[in-house]
Amino acid sequence: MGGSKKVEEIVENFVVEIERDPVILAYFDGADINRFIDKLSEQICHRTGGPCEYSGDTMEQVHGGMNITEADFNRTVDLLINAMNKADVPHPLQNKVLRVLAPTRDEMLYL
Ligand code: HEM
Repeated sequence: MGGSKKVEEIVENFVVEIERDPVILAYFDGADINRFIDKLSEQICHRTGGPCEYSGDTMEQVHGGMNITEADFNRTVDLLINAMNKADVPHPLQNKVLRVLAPTRDEMLYL
């Protein structure tokens, strides 16, 4: 994945993208952003082959009550793609990240 520095860069860029998007930012009202950065980095590292373990809550627990719409889920994925482009992540690797995160969709919509 290019190491933990690359994952951190992606996640930091992702937070900047979220901060610029009023629709998605609204979901983060009251969220602990440092924890988000920490746990999301762990999860990307874990799902792309380690060596980190994910120590956060399950995707159901975290997102279940948020009533995230399909459109907003897709919008968030676009923000993640922007974040990876700005971190110069090559496209095959971007596809890998998106592929391993895709199953989270069913763990957070319509719960
Ligand atoms: C692309 C798939 C996604 C993944 C892999 C993901 C992953 C995560 C992770 C790992 C956390 C931290 C969990 C913890 O604190 O234990 C988190 C928190 C959060 N996520 Fe997501 N997420 C995704 C999509 C979304 C979407 C689409 C939204 C809303 C539109 C969203 C809103 C939030 C919010 C608001 C928090 C912070 C909760 C809090 O601190 O109270 N996430 N997410």
